[in-house]
Amino acid sequence: MHILITGGAGFIGSHLIRNLLGRGDTIAILDNLSTGNFDNIREFVGNPRFSFAIDEIHNTLVLDRLASQADAIVHLAAAVGVQLVVERPTETIETNVLGTHAVLTAARRYRCRTLIASTSEVYGKGVSIPFREDDDLLLGPSSRSRWSYAASKLLDEFLGLAAYNEHGLPVTVTRFFNTVGPGQTGRYGMVVPRLVRQALRHEPLTIYGDGEQSRCFCHVSDTVRALQDLLDRPESTAGEIYNIGSGQEVTINQLVQNVIERTDTTSTIKYVPYNEAYAPGFEDMRRRVPDTTKLNQAIGWKPTHDLTKILDDVIAYEQTRLTTTT
Ligand SMILES: NC(=O)c1ccc[n+]([C@@H]2O[C@H](COP(=O)([O-])OP(=O)(O)OC[C@H]3O[C@@H](n4cnc5c(N)ncnc54)[C@H](O)[C@@H]3O)[C@@H](O)[C@H]2O)c1
Repeated sequence: MHILITGGAGFIGSHLIRNLLGRGDTIAILDNLSTGNFDNIREFVGNPRFSFAIDEIHNTLVLDRLASQADAIVHLAAAVGVQLVVERPTETIETNVLGTHAVLTAARRYRCRTLIASTSEVYGKGVSIPFREDDDLLLGPSSRSRWSYAASKLLDEFLGLAAYNEHGLPVTVTRFFNTVGPGQTGRYGMVVPRLVRQALRHEPLTIYGDGEQSRCFCHVSDTVRALQDLLDRPESTAGEIYNIGSGQEVTINQLVQNVIERTDTTSTIKYVPYNEAYAPGFEDMRRRVPDTTKLNQAIGWKPTHDLTKILDDVIAYEQTRLTTTT
């Protein structure tokens, strides 16, 4: 299969490329290297089945050319990360909504099977745990810019499902919960790589808020396995939304204890109020747990890596990075 991956130089994209090239697919990527990095794709350069375009998702000429050669598109390019979203809401909304519009326009022209990356953020302040795909969604007010990420991704979902319902385009929406693993940048507020880096450098481990908020962390290799299987089943999964995430819930305080134990760090713990970490009035969700029954029924998916394995993989990766950059 010829697959176009937007945002392919990013964290999830580069893991997906490795898998898809490994099974014989031909991959083209479109990425502006804003939160992604050329180092993520360096190992693929020279492979005759891999090509890259460093450009904006809004460049419709490039997008059209790449889509014309593709059987399928995995649309991952987005403004990502809570910090980035709070600091630059205009860019977030434009990249996510106009980017998805451009991708779907090209996909419709060439009838490409399309996967659209959404996020657990769309569940907002919902309290009916675990979150199911057909739950009502409860976002905060538009005066709080952090909700612009969720709202923009929700509009992406509507655009994708409209392309399926109105135009018969085989679109599937995937709602990722926290996905972690080797290669994820800690620069944009991603908690696991940030804590591991702080621990390896014996710097204070920063916890935002009281640390009693919980998250479920899914290994990126489990996430890309789900994407790969969904790509292969357009007949049964088009027009549907799927949660992708782990059900192993952990508070940030527990996560920090795990990081301390597994790194043997001398780091202390430092609590930072949300107002200082982000913007005044920042709202966070206490819990975010996915119900993945629907995905399991569709493709037989279950996560196979627990938190210990995830942390060990991230620690090993960050240790190598630390020794090669110092
Ligand atoms: N990692 C997670 O925990 C998580 C959770 C929920 C949703 N997601 C979604 O999954 C997708 C991939 O996320 P990721 O974790 O790999 O993040 P990432 O930042 O590593 O990947 C996003 C990629 O998109 C590229 N990009 C951004 N703006 C672009 C533009 N205007 N034109 C072209 N390329 C652009 C970036 O350079 C980057 O390579 C995103 O859509 C994100 O919203 C991820």
